Amino acid sequence: MLPAYIPNPVAALSGGGTPIDLGKNYSDGRRIFGDGKTFRGLIVGILAGIMTGLFLIWLSAAYSLTYLPVQTLLSVTLLATGALLGDLIKSFFKRRLGRERGTKWPVADQYDLVAGAFILLLIGDSSWFFAVVSLPVLVIILVITPVLHRVVNIIGYLFRVKEVPW
Ligand code: CTP
Ligand code: MG
Repeated sequence: MLPAYIPNPVAALSGGGTPIDLGKNYSDGRRIFGDGKTFRGLIVGILAGIMTGLFLIWLSAAYSLTYLPVQTLLSVTLLATGALLGDLIKSFFKRRLGRERGTKWPVADQYDLVAGAFILLLIGDSSWFFAVVSLPVLVIILVITPVLHRVVNIIGYLFRVKEVPW
């Protein structure tokens, strides 16, 4: 899951500049995505996730870490891209519900990256998904994701990377 976990914090560190919605509003008069979703965050975040995945591929080959899932360029690209596309689509629906940028949206804020990564894997490499994401793996992911999310966001808040600790 590291290729899916890395993009969010890297987007928070590198984000800024032109928002993906170019500042435009949706038909309901609210922003399409909001200022929290920028091209720079999206691109740098995805590239960081892919690079993390390539490092994992090298690591498991170099040290014969056979207990790690066999990642490929495709699987790590789908994990990284899906994570931030999930985050982006979540923000679209968050705005439609009238929740401002940066506000808390429990469950959705924590699992957007998992849903996005899994959906892209199902579309792009379903055989990899079913071979790797067994029921126990799924349960572990569902348990550790909100914990990691919370811990990383508190660290980001303490270091003033994030304006809020969630
Ligand atoms: N970020 C970015 N581009 C992205 C995703 C994130 O630039 N595609 C940066 C933004 O600076 C954002 C920060 O990472 O504020 C934290 O991301 P997140 O918590 O997902 O965004 P929020 O500001 O909380 O916005 P939203 O309410 O839409 O989730
Ligand atoms: Mg947020």
